[in-house]
Amino acid sequence: MSLVDSLIERMSLTEKLGQLTMTACGQAVTGPTIAGDSTEAIKSGAIGNLLNLVGAANVHDMQRLAVDESRLGIPLLIGYDVIHGHRTLFPIPLGEASLFDPEAWASSARESAKEAAADGLAMTFAPMLDVARDPRWGRGAEGPGEDPFVAACMAEAKVRGFQGGGLTHADCLASVAKHFCAYGGVTAGRDYAPVDISERTLHEVHLLPFAAAVAAGAAAIMPAFTDLNGVPMTANKVLLRDWLRGRLGFDGLIISDYNAIAELIRHGIAADLADAAALALKAGVDIDMMADAYRRGLPLALKRGTVSMAEIDESVRRVLILKERLGLFDDPYRRGKVRESAAALEKRRGLARHIATRSIVMLKNDGDALPLRRSVRRLALLGPLTDASAEMRGVWWGAAAPEGHVTVLQGLRTALPESQILQADGVAIDGADTGGLSAALRLCESADAIILCLGEAAVMSGEAASRAHLGLPGMQRQLAEAVFEQAQRASIPVIVILFSGRPLIVPWLVEKANAVLAAWFPGSEAGHALADVITGRQGPSGRTPVTWPRALGQVPIFFGERPSGRPFDSHDRFTSKYLDVANEPLFPFGFGLTYGRFELSNLRLSRAAIALGDVLTVQVDVINRGAREAQETLFLFTHDKIASVSRPKLELKGFGKIELRPGGSGTVTFSLGAAELRFLGMALEPVFEPGEIEILVGPCADRTQLQVASVQLVA
Ligand code: NOJ
Repeated sequence: MSLVDSLIERMSLTEKLGQLTMTACGQAVTGPTIAGDSTEAIKSGAIGNLLNLVGAANVHDMQRLAVDESRLGIPLLIGYDVIHGHRTLFPIPLGEASLFDPEAWASSARESAKEAAADGLAMTFAPMLDVARDPRWGRGAEGPGEDPFVAACMAEAKVRGFQGGGLTHADCLASVAKHFCAYGGVTAGRDYAPVDISERTLHEVHLLPFAAAVAAGAAAIMPAFTDLNGVPMTANKVLLRDWLRGRLGFDGLIISDYNAIAELIRHGIAADLADAAALALKAGVDIDMMADAYRRGLPLALKRGTVSMAEIDESVRRVLILKERLGLFDDPYRRGKVRESAAALEKRRGLARHIATRSIVMLKNDGDALPLRRSVRRLALLGPLTDASAEMRGVWWGAAAPEGHVTVLQGLRTALPESQILQADGVAIDGADTGGLSAALRLCESADAIILCLGEAAVMSGEAASRAHLGLPGMQRQLAEAVFEQAQRASIPVIVILFSGRPLIVPWLVEKANAVLAAWFPGSEAGHALADVITGRQGPSGRTPVTWPRALGQVPIFFGERPSGRPFDSHDRFTSKYLDVANEPLFPFGFGLTYGRFELSNLRLSRAAIALGDVLTVQVDVINRGAREAQETLFLFTHDKIASVSRPKLELKGFGKIELRPGGSGTVTFSLGAAELRFLGMALEPVFEPGEIEILVGPCADRTQLQVASVQLVA
């Protein structure tokens, strides 16, 4: 008999429910105070899994209680939100998405897993794969942006990075893909609000990244807090049991979100905790995070006959199997045994800087305001985010302390030791105080250039951080307008660095600034990364992974929209438009400037017609006509012109990069399988329809900037 079976045979109901329970230690919030009553519960086998406990010594102390002092000695599974780093922070996921570089995505996950595993952890509640098309929703910051293809690529890369060479390895974490699914569709961008979307959007957009995570071997899945068309995901049997387990064959763990099982009562589908617990278990949720609904509700559900012991055992088996796969039975202390070397930490910092540099998206650069000349004598560095170490972390800072993250001030002082850098906040990120404004303005007087660091606080995106106004918070606009006025009088260039967990809607700012960098939240190496781009030590190469609106009323706005029967026509009143704002975004998906100037030519396809099973090679020549070396990112889109179901105006199928010296040229090559040109037909089953497919390649999702060719699909 296997270890797992023999354990299940010997377990009491309390011990079984313990394995299905995950409880917080509170340490992440309150410091190293381990919740007193968990200690006894762990010893009695009533709690089998923990979250929010960090530090190898703490983890091992708790592990010892389970292994040495509980009757069956089953080790604990300890998870944490290692989202974009643990102690060393990489850019927030939306910032990382701007790299369009799966190898980079995998490498930061690999490094984060090593760092977290060295801290004793065995599981991360990541990656977050929610496709987000409404910037009001704060959680867009935690994920891959608006496009399902990007999200699927990120799913694969992140799972590979976190889980590394295999779960038994002491430097690997079990990856929990979340939040399954369509959480990004919350009504009006308000967090936790209901989700009501079509079956088609569900399958074409929101399920795709989860299929990729499962194919990559993700150890676990976390259902979203939200409902989907009336059925809360925590009790969504059709999607959890039938689609995820049945159709995709997912045999890993399903772990609820924080208190989500108990919340089934407030969703209005369960009368009490026993009811809620039964619904979740029957839907396939194995572990109850923080609701204590399984421990308190399942005994009654058993009595009522709404669940069976076999169903409980099935979930217990999955938990034990994961613990076994993580090597916890062989050596529960395998993670956190060896301290990482100083060299390993330094190397990680180097990677964090490299990735952060490449996550920066240059939205504007008029008159070559950037890169800054090294001879700049006096630089005025203004705004509430110039010297804000803690803010650089962005949402989900893992176990990273508030200090120690390089600020823009520190980064520029290091990069420009000869220059005089004068710094003032001027105003706070939020709030109405303008007391510091005039002192800040005085610094502009003798400056050769002004850098304005504006945007959101780290906590203004992420969970429970929806915003209905997407401008600059507090009095930052007042600061910016005053600076622009003064700078214009003295012809001083103004460079704006925007920090945010979403695209901020600030067309006035973009118009007035000479240069704008969208920095998202770059993480621990923020200041160095920004200094690298500002001084030209490294050129900007990030591309926005979300369409950047010009007005809030355009939201939701995304490039993958289907055509209208009345597309906008300026000569025809009855066409799809707003009376008061253009349809076009301020910046399309994929937009981002570089210090180069690229021209595309000669888009060519390896064949004129393809059948299912064929692979098409798509190539385009690129030349850098600019004066500086730079990296260009190109996107491959398709458009199915006539199909049984109206297809999106552009569908992303690939992205690629090329680095070219001034005057240098090269070729970017994409492979496109004909199978990727299937779509869901009227019955929502994949169909392959003969006909013409447009192949479009270019620097962003603006059709006017794309090279176009076409291929015939043949049966
Ligand atoms: C709630 C969040 O929705 C989820 O993303 C996170 O993993 C859990 N809390 C645990 O912190």
